[in-house]
Parts: sequence; structure tokens; C-alpha cells
Amino acid sequence: MAQAEWWQGGVIYQIYPRSFMDLNGDGIGDLAGIAARLDHLVALGVDAIWISPIFPSPMADFGYDISDYCAIDPMFGTIADFDALLAAAHGRGLRVLLDLVPGHTSDKHPWFRDSRSGRDAARRDWYVWRDPAPDGGPPNNWLSEFGGPAWTFDAPSGQYYLNIFLPEQPALNWRNPEVAEAIAGVMRFWFDRGVDGFRVDAFENLVMDAAFRNNPPNPEWTPPLGPARSLLGQHTKHQPELVAIAQAMRRVAAEYAPERLLIGEAYGEPEEVVRYYGPALDGFQQPFNFQLIGLDWTPAAVAEVINEYEAALPPGAWPNWVLGNHDRGRIASRVGPAQARVAMVLLLTLRGTPTIYQGDELGMENVPIPPDRVRDPWEINVPGHGLGRDPVRTPLAWEEGPGAGFTTGTPWLPIDTRPEVCVARQAGDPASMVAFTRRLLALRRAESALALGAVEVLHAGGGVLAYVRQAPDGGPRLAITLNFTGREQPLPEGLVGELVLSSRNANPDAGAPLAPDEARILRLRG
Ligand code: GLC
Ligand code: CA
Repeated sequence: MAQAEWWQGGVIYQIYPRSFMDLNGDGIGDLAGIAARLDHLVALGVDAIWISPIFPSPMADFGYDISDYCAIDPMFGTIADFDALLAAAHGRGLRVLLDLVPGHTSDKHPWFRDSRSGRDAARRDWYVWRDPAPDGGPPNNWLSEFGGPAWTFDAPSGQYYLNIFLPEQPALNWRNPEVAEAIAGVMRFWFDRGVDGFRVDAFENLVMDAAFRNNPPNPEWTPPLGPARSLLGQHTKHQPELVAIAQAMRRVAAEYAPERLLIGEAYGEPEEVVRYYGPALDGFQQPFNFQLIGLDWTPAAVAEVINEYEAALPPGAWPNWVLGNHDRGRIASRVGPAQARVAMVLLLTLRGTPTIYQGDELGMENVPIPPDRVRDPWEINVPGHGLGRDPVRTPLAWEEGPGAGFTTGTPWLPIDTRPEVCVARQAGDPASMVAFTRRLLALRRAESALALGAVEVLHAGGGVLAYVRQAPDGGPRLAITLNFTGREQPLPEGLVGELVLSSRNANPDAGAPLAPDEARILRLRG
């Protein structure tokens, strides 16, 4: 690979803006707060930030219900604050990615207000409207991801509109070219301001079966999965039209020099997700790869996913990896705090662009939310399934003390104020998770084997996963060895080399057995 793009060797850090840093004391993070804390990200050593939605929104789904795509919600600041943040980030060598939510607007968006004003409205066909079924009920059996039917009845016009998420998030009609053109305009608005790319929200749900056929039942469904999983997404997810939509979005990104980055959010099987690279790698540069996010934490399961995903990648496509985001349980809670470093080493040493979710560099865990403080509409609509996302969205703790340096007011969600999970304490402690993550990111930057090299799984068993990264120019080979257990494990045979990094706060002998929960990187001889 002669000329790597910045995002190939680079590392992305996801900011959930409500919970990053609150500068004006209203308990909710803001853009000025992000700008004030960029040094943390520079010290960490990431290349780009992706900021979850900051646009005007009634906040029914915390910003994923947008009422104006080309402005900033006053809660987060002003467009001047945004420009200042962008300049400050660029000044420190950090790229900035925004969240593009093309699948739905807020029901308060002027487009939808017009659309629902009557069957003859100019923008009626910008959303998905259908007549009721003969019995007056919803047009088909499609379900909302957040509970209940995916259809909301509009009495004045006698039709239903589609909402794949909340009724406050009416689905845009991507079969209408005017919608595609309007969203392209949104992309250009932010690209013209200097934004480096977008993460594209809920892409697998963007377009639906043209014949509106019922979804079939999911034979593997059990109640704990939640009602939305009781049907398969056959006619609502991963429809073939999506590839052309990814290509059209990429053409907009390619109008700019340097070309802007598009990361598509789509949950699915590897063969479904890799389609969005486009047949000639002319779709998203990075369709998110979530294969690790709900996986059994065993060497065999992880090895299988690595091999399966690498095999599914189209020739020349660049992979990416994710272990957490604002929708899924914290990795340190999923695998246990002792394994958090093993997980971070995995994320940052696999072949491909990693995205770190804010707080994972501190080993943040899911924070229990008392019933009277639940905010996530998913938990409110479908209680008791553990679907609520508040526990993973709690504010970052910057300092010790009640507001944790996050806010001088009352935080919108409870903060984990244990001193050991705050940035100040960890930054001053070379044995901390944050210090370890910094060392790992520095190593990734220094070693082309880690940033850009090939990968080969060597060993998965006995509680240990081992793989080798080989630098592109035939240069050094690094072996990554991960002990997934709390017991000492022998190093896989044949791994002879010198110690590069250990997750323990002591330097083990390169050939010594792996200590409990240890991740160790070796430079192989020869
Ligand atoms: C994506 C977002 C999630 C949001 C949903 C609807 O999955 O990550 O937070 O609720 O789309 O926009
Ligand atoms: Ca604020």
C-alpha cells in the first residue's frame, strides 16, 4: 500500500456530546466543552473525532430526531462555537466527523410539517405514507425498533406514516430523488464548512421493500430479545437499493479534495455489510464492522470473526473494528474490568481502523440508572429487556468530586464518580488504563505493522488468542498475544521474540507464560 489514506492508519474517537464536557453548567455537554477538552484527545493520540448529532432537535431520541440539518442546537452552542471547535481540532491535527441521519427527521422538521399537512402537500412524498389495511390497522406488520408498530396513523389525512424508530422520527422516502438531493445538500453544507466526513446513521434501514411485504417471523426469537426482533428484517433492512445510495453519497464526498470520509452504520452479517463498500470500492470507505460488539468473549469466537470478516472483505477494501458505542453495553462491563485492557489491545491491533467510544479509554462501565432517572425512550417504551442505553451514555468524569469536572450543575444522567475512573487521576498514573491506552496508540503510530500491516491468526485456544501483524514493506512482524482468562496461560509455541508491550505494569520476560488477563506484544525474530 504505497499511499495510505489518513483513515487507514488512523484511529477514530466517538464523542457523545451530551456527556463529554458541560461548560455552561446546564448538566448537558456542549461544543465549547469539547473544544476545552481537546487536549485529552491529543494526549491520547487519536486522529479523528466523530461527534454524535449536535443539530436542532426536540431530543425525543437525543439528537437522532433532527428538526434542522444545517444548524446547531442551542443546547450544544452556536454555529460560531462549531466553527471554533472545528478550527481548534484542525489546529491540533484532529479531523472532525459529524453524524448524518438520512433515514428520518424529527416530526417537527419543516419537511415533515409540510408533508403531513395534507395528501397534496408539496413534500407529501418525501416521507413514506400508506393507506390503512382493510381493517383500518397499519398497512403491514413492520415493527419499530423502539417498540410497537412501525406505522403511525395521521387522522386528518387518513393515512399512516412509516417510523422505523420513534413516531417522532418519521422515515424519509429514499425512493424520491428529491430526498436524496436534499440530503446531498446537507452533506455539502458541512463539507463546505470544513468537516472531514460523516458517520451515516442507521443505513441498513434507509430503504424498504417497494411492495411493502410483511416481514416473516424470526424462528430464533425469544422474549428477552425484545419485541422488535420477533420478525426478521427481510423487507426492511439491507435492501438491494442501498448500494446505489452509498455510491451516490460517496460521489458527494468525492466532490471535495481531499476526499471526505464516509462511515456507514449498518448492523448485519459480514456479507451484508461489506456490500456497502460498493462494487468498485465506490461506496462507503468504511461500512462499520460490528462483528465484535455482541460476541462471546472467547479466543475461538474472536478468531472466527476475524477470519470470516477478512474473508468477506472485497479485494482492496480496508477493514474497521468497533467494541462500543452509545447504543451498546460498555466493553468493560461485558468482558469484566480485568479484561478491559485485553479488549483495548484487540481493538487497536487488529487490521483496520478502530473507533474508540468515549470513556472506554478509562475502562468506564455501565452505570446503573435509577428508575426515576431513565431517559432513553427505548427503555421507557420497552422496559425490562435491558435495551436501555442510558447506562452507556453517562458523563465522562474528568476530575474527582460531585460534578466530576463534567458539570457545575446537575448532570443529565448520573456520573460514575469513583475516583479511579476519572481522567485527572488516570492521566497522572502510569499504571492506569488511560496511560496504557496512550502507550498503545503511540506504538500503533510508530509501527507500520500495527497501523497498516497484514494480519494472520496463529492460535486460538486454551484461553489465548495470538495473531501476527506484518508490516507492508516486508518489515517487522509483531505478534499479539491475548490471555482471555484470569489464569496464567502458556505462550503459544514458536513465538520467539522481544517484548514490545505488556498490559501488566511490570515487564515480563518475553517468553514467560502469559499472566492472568495479560495482553503482550512481541517483535518476532527473523
Ligand atoms: C442509530 C443510532 C441510535 C439511534 C438510531 C435512530 O442506531 O446509533 O442511537 O437511536 O440510529 O436514529
Ligand atoms: Ca451545557
